[in-house]
Amino acid sequence: MGVKIVEVGPRDGLQNEKTLVPTEVKIHLIDMLSEAGLPVIEATSFVSPEWVPQMADQVEVMKGINRRPGVSYPVLTPNLKGFQAAVKAGAAEVAIFGAASELFSKKNINCSVDESLQRFEEVTKAAKEAGVRVRGYVSCVLGCPYEGQVSPDKVAQVAKRLYSMGCYEISLGDTIGVGTPGGMAELLEAVSREVPVDALAVHCHDTYGQALANILIALQMGISVVDSSVAGLGGCPYAQGASGNVATEDVVYMLHGLGIQTGVDLPKLMDAGAFICRSLNRKTSSKVAQATCKL
Ligand code: HMG
Ligand code: MG
Repeated sequence: MGVKIVEVGPRDGLQNEKTLVPTEVKIHLIDMLSEAGLPVIEATSFVSPEWVPQMADQVEVMKGINRRPGVSYPVLTPNLKGFQAAVKAGAAEVAIFGAASELFSKKNINCSVDESLQRFEEVTKAAKEAGVRVRGYVSCVLGCPYEGQVSPDKVAQVAKRLYSMGCYEISLGDTIGVGTPGGMAELLEAVSREVPVDALAVHCHDTYGQALANILIALQMGISVVDSSVAGLGGCPYAQGASGNVATEDVVYMLHGLGIQTGVDLPKLMDAGAFICRSLNRKTSSKVAQATCKL
């Protein structure tokens, strides 16, 4: 059995950094991650530079990376404008990002959930014509910083809409990392009634330290795609209190310990983590990278 890891560090990991990270650093990070064997690396976002200044160099990043054969480099596109710019910059895969919470949708992409789904329909239609693959996110699946509890049925409805408009995979985002394994199990039961489990991914932020436990439950329920961020970087600028994603190093360590293949070379991945932490002058959030008793 294998699990596909979707590395979101260059996008989710860096989007919340206050100081602009040099474009060469982003490019080098992405190249180190592909060198480490990650099959999918979310490279950047085609969003408004007013909203997320850190992603304003998206075209340079896309042009600068050394694309390894077989590796996907999806980019976030909130609307048709972003989609067209992404395709022009050479993106072969994009991700649309909706939410199960009205207030979060408004704060993050400045429209209601229904309006966002209409925009996404335009993107998926254009993507089909252009032969571009589309991944879909649902945010706030286990809680919202503005609305509190989010019902699994609401998540299931949004996930179903994204799936039926043509997303090949739906990533369920615990944007603020509040979920527990109990909540994750309930959520996946509800969502898998509407979307086949092999088209689902989990995207866990680790604010409450529950991410690995939540991922383990998801694996037990048949999920085989896991999003994570090198060194545990990350957070959404429009989600108060959101901390980093689960660290890719820790996910890989756990999966390999379970005898599950990822294709990722852990020492090379740790080098990528060390590189970005040095560049950001930051301590890693990965427990595996912090551990001094290396196995
Ligand atoms: P808006 O202000 O409502 O947009 O923002 P608008 O359509 O009214 O246009 C205003 C201006 O923005 C116009 O320019 C547009 O051309 C421009 P002007 O005429 O004033 O010069 N514009 C764009 N520019 C570049 N790229 C675009 C684009 N679209 C319009 N695509 C918008 C709406 C969606 C653009 C804005 O709210 C936005 O960019 N939001 C992105 C926020 C974001 O990136 N959040 C983080 C990612 S989501 C996340 O982290 C969660 C996730 O990890 C999963 C999880 O953890 O749950 C995925
Ligand atoms: Mg996220």
